[in-house]
Amino acid sequence: MTEVTGVRRYYHETIQSILARRSYKVFDGRPISDKALETIVTAGLYAPTGMNRQPWHFTVIRSKEGMEKFGKARRSLPLPPGISPEVAAKFGDPLRNAPVMILVSAKDGGTSFEDCCLAMENMFIAAASLGIMSGWDHATVKDLFDLDAGLKAELIPEGYTLYAAAFFGYPGPAVKDRGERKGTVAYI
Ligand SMILES: Cc1cc2nc3c(=O)[nH]c(=O)nc-3n(C[C@H](O)[C@H](O)[C@H](O)COP(=O)(O)O)c2cc1C
Repeated sequence: MTEVTGVRRYYHETIQSILARRSYKVFDGRPISDKALETIVTAGLYAPTGMNRQPWHFTVIRSKEGMEKFGKARRSLPLPPGISPEVAAKFGDPLRNAPVMILVSAKDGGTSFEDCCLAMENMFIAAASLGIMSGWDHATVKDLFDLDAGLKAELIPEGYTLYAAAFFGYPGPAVKDRGERKGTVAYI
């Protein structure tokens, strides 16, 4: 398991995985086994959902062809205002060299947004427990779907909204230390 740095060491394995999880922008390209992927997706499916509706649909893009097609579509996206091709090139490969991307979508309404985000977080933690890291990439995929209805129809069921999208892979170069967590906590 990835060593937790910069925080107090906890010995419970689940807590270690939660603390070890980091968002990666570059992966090392190694494939994720079917068994590991199934474990990750199962963790997502066991997230809580409002009224146990389980409103979601998980799309796991893991074939080379699927990822290449997706990468091609991403490369065709117009650059955001103020971003030159030179700057964009610095961000590197739009697929981040990741072998897998998972999209979680659902019909609007109820607690779909919360349900899908909880599923994704479960998958992030399960992945971290296997030494696999993740990177949230929801906004770009939404932009892509707005421009390419055909791709959207191929990837998520009709009438569903995309609520969470992320890359998964074995970590590339270490990410910079994001420091301690400083949220406000009130114990009453
Ligand atoms: C809702 C949401 C959107 C995010 N969007 C992006 C994104 O577009 N690109 C990216 O590289 N990271 C994105 N991240 C990752 C955050 O930058 C990252 O979680 C944060 O810097 C803390 O680092 P850590 O996840 O490694 O602990 C997003 C995270 C969340 C929760």
